[in-house]
This record gives sequence, structure tokens and C-alpha cells, in this order.
Amino acid sequence: MTVKTPEAIEVTADKINVLKPYELTDHLERGRVLMFPTPPLELPSEDDLRFLKEQTPEYHTTKNISYYPRAGLLRGIKAPPDVEQRTLGILKDYQDRVEACLHRLIPSFTPDWRSATSSLRVFEENNRGLPIRTRSDLIHLDAGTYGAARGDLILRFLTNLDDKDRVWRCKGTVSDLVETFGEAAGLARNEGLLRDSLLNRVGSGLVRGLSKVFPATATLERSAYDQAMRHMHNYMKESEEFQQDPEGVVEICFKPRSCWLVFADMAGHSCLSGEFAMINTFMVPRGNFRHQEFSPWEVLSRYAAGKSALAPEIPFGM
Ligand SMILES: [Fe+2]
Repeated sequence: MTVKTPEAIEVTADKINVLKPYELTDHLERGRVLMFPTPPLELPSEDDLRFLKEQTPEYHTTKNISYYPRAGLLRGIKAPPDVEQRTLGILKDYQDRVEACLHRLIPSFTPDWRSATSSLRVFEENNRGLPIRTRSDLIHLDAGTYGAARGDLILRFLTNLDDKDRVWRCKGTVSDLVETFGEAAGLARNEGLLRDSLLNRVGSGLVRGLSKVFPATATLERSAYDQAMRHMHNYMKESEEFQQDPEGVVEICFKPRSCWLVFADMAGHSCLSGEFAMINTFMVPRGNFRHQEFSPWEVLSRYAAGKSALAPEIPFGM
């Protein structure tokens, strides 16, 4: 099996005005990265950017500072109340703006989607000294960050707020990655792969009850689907051979003050360098796909049924 190189598609300001219906979503469904050299929305003000860059780093407690819109919570920061309030306000405003922008650009993906997080990264990604499964500089598919996705997809809108490029190294899309490395990642080729165990079901019920009182505990929920995706994530990051093999690898440079959009659970990706960025995340129901055959859920279903995990050839635009 060949590991494919994820494609990057440039969406210039001119192109945005003449897009065909489904043009952007058809690219995203195929695991492609959409690059916006000109931001398709208003960025935070210069004053706010200076504040985030200069005043928040000393207060970071985790990899990101994140705002959770559904719970109205800010996490990953321990700062005086005025700093926390201003940070929350900027992250919230930007999440609202990204949401409005995506309603305009990819309306077919938005019914019943969930606004997940608005995150800020202010540290250099290169050599951050994080544990292996938390590192962003190793190629991976995202998995299990927001509790049980149960087949919903992780859509990320990223903004490079720095004065230098943010550099990604990408390799593979979910179907060829599962087809090639599923067994090595420990994924069983039987229907048990996507069937929730009793423990999953009982645990999920408890977590959902608990999360009504403590919203942050929602991230503890897991399903068989999420565990399978987590196995892929961990295998990719922990396999030296996978990381070193250049087949299907491409480096993509995102210019200062540019944006990009991708399903982070469909395109293998890592961040080699870059310092100051915002990452806005939305969970998209797989039922919103024009062609669900491309979704990781369907990829894993084919794999579990002993068939090829690869998606059927569907001409672009159909
Ligand atoms: Fe990621």
C-alpha cells in the first residue's frame, strides 16, 4: 500500500467569490488542507495580539490556553483576573468570528456541529520537551481530545499570528494510513472494532451525567471508535520507522497572518516549527459529508469488515 501525500489547496481572496457549491467541503472530505493566504475573516486587533504574545506566556499551565464555548470556561492559564478575562474575551470573540466565517464558506458542514475550543499557542513548537504522545512535531491523526467523538470529525481552523512561517510536515490520509498501519497499530479486523463495550456504555452514561455539573469532565468520555483512532494516533507518534520513512511526506509552510482549514483526524500532520497561533476547533457530524465513504468511521468500518479501508474512487465535484 502506498501512503498518500496530503494535498494543500490554495484558496485565494479572488477564488472565494467564485466558489462552486461543495467545492471546499469536497476537498476537506478528501483529507486536503485548505490554505487561505489572505485571512477570510478579521483577525484579532494588533493591540490584542500584542497582549496575547507578551502577557500570557508566563501564565500558561498546559500546552494551550483554551476557551470552551459550550461551558464558557478558560483552561490552561493561571493569571490575575483581568488577564484571564481579557484572554477569554479575545478567544471567545475569535471563535465567534471563525464560526460565522465557516457558516459562509462551508455551510453544508455546519448543521448540528459543535463549537469545541478556541486555543492559543504562544511557545515555539520545535523542541518543546513534551511527552511523546503530547508532542505536535510527530506526524499523527488527532484523536480523543474532546471526549467521545463517536465518528464525528475534528475540524480545525488555524491562524498563524507570528511574523515567521509555521511549518507542517504531513503524511498520509486516514484511509491509506489505516489500510497500511491498522494492524501494526493493533486494530482488530472484526466487527468488535467499532462496538462499544459494556464498560464504554456505562462509563459514557456516568460521564455525561457528571459533565452536566462539571463540564470539563466531558473529555473523559470514550467510545470504541475513539479508542481505535487513539491507537492510530499513538502508533504513528511512537513508531520511529513511520516517522522516518519519507514516503508520502510533504512540508507545508503557512505564511505569517495566513489561515488554513483541515480535518485533523483525516490528514496525517505535525507542526515542525512556529510560535504564535490560534487553533479553532469544531466537531462535524459525519452525516454532513456528501460522501460518508471518506469519513474515518466508514474507513474503520470497511477495515473491520475485512475489506480494503480505501475509499472508492469518486470524481471530484460529484
Ligand atoms: Fe494534531
